[in-house]
Amino acid sequence: MVREVDLRSDTVTKPTAAMRMAMAEAVVGDDVYKEDPTANELERRLANFLGKEAAIFVPSGTMGNLSAVMAHCWTRGQEIIIGDQSHMFLYEQGGISQLAGVHVCSFPTREDGTFDLEELKEKIRPRFPESHEPSTGLICIENTNNRCGGRVLPMSYIRELCALARNNDIPVHMDGARIVNASIHCGVPVHEIIKECASISMCLSKGIGAPVGSVVAGSKDFIAKVHRCRKVLGGGMRQIGVLAAAALVALDTAEERLRIDHQRAKKFAQDICSLKSKLITTNPDVVESNMVLLNFPSPSFTSKDFVEKMAEVKKEDGAEVVVKASTWFKNRVRCVLHSDLTQEDLDYAVKKIRSVVM
Ligand SMILES: Cc1ncc(COP(=O)(O)O)c(C=O)c1O
Repeated sequence: MVREVDLRSDTVTKPTAAMRMAMAEAVVGDDVYKEDPTANELERRLANFLGKEAAIFVPSGTMGNLSAVMAHCWTRGQEIIIGDQSHMFLYEQGGISQLAGVHVCSFPTREDGTFDLEELKEKIRPRFPESHEPSTGLICIENTNNRCGGRVLPMSYIRELCALARNNDIPVHMDGARIVNASIHCGVPVHEIIKECASISMCLSKGIGAPVGSVVAGSKDFIAKVHRCRKVLGGGMRQIGVLAAAALVALDTAEERLRIDHQRAKKFAQDICSLKSKLITTNPDVVESNMVLLNFPSPSFTSKDFVEKMAEVKKEDGAEVVVKASTWFKNRVRCVLHSDLTQEDLDYAVKKIRSVVM
């Protein structure tokens, strides 16, 4: 049997036996009428976990972010400020403009996922501008930052950014697809991290390990608007208790699991460093969550070459091993750890890397 080590994303995990059992036994109802008891329970639990008045289940992180933008930018002529390395800007098909009719100001993101706040100040436009300009309706931040390799925003930075936004009467939305990873890194509960953010979207289908879904949380009035936006986007699903049930099980063990992912990610980076190869480098010091970025400094061996070689079936220590990873921008590869990987899988991956680059 070929051992497949899939490092492409933390979205590849399969539901566990306990999740499948919970799905089979879930009590369900029509969620568009808010009559699905299991979805209602999940939403209550997550509102509490996230420290917000209300929460709503949505099919994906993309829909969570888009419906949150629509709910914040309820009137026409608004602009949002988002990072130029953010998922919302890069990978959500420009839905903010395409579907919500909201203008985007993309703001330079530093290597660690933060913005220069002095420069940010300059980009804020008045609430009631003269007739030429859009008004700034929302600032979005991403924590952990996917494109920056799972970097975690420092608490002091979040506080400073939220104070700046508050002084200008602008709400902050956090794309917290992997907010639990951030919480583990900082040693601070999620509700504390997002206390000053008006809203958050959090993915259940990533490191948490559920098969499907995300949640948006905020004030009751805000979530009522998101409920309406979710429907127009086609996200008003019916007996979603079967999905919520899996998420409830996943949440029970998520924090403990993610802690292990973080420790293993650090070790994975250190193991690769200790190969001392000229073809592949990585910096364990910036591994803050479940992602490791690999750099390929030599033009004779690119990230694409690496990914192709790793995908070839080859024997490592008597076992046939295939490693899947994603090419990333700047001639890098992104490796993402998740609950379907064992330490043994990662050890095999390192052995395969050694045989490919040495
Ligand atoms: C930071 C971030 N936000 C949002 C999303 C979108 O989630 P989904 O794939 O569920 O739409 C992703 C997906 O990878 C992500 O990494």
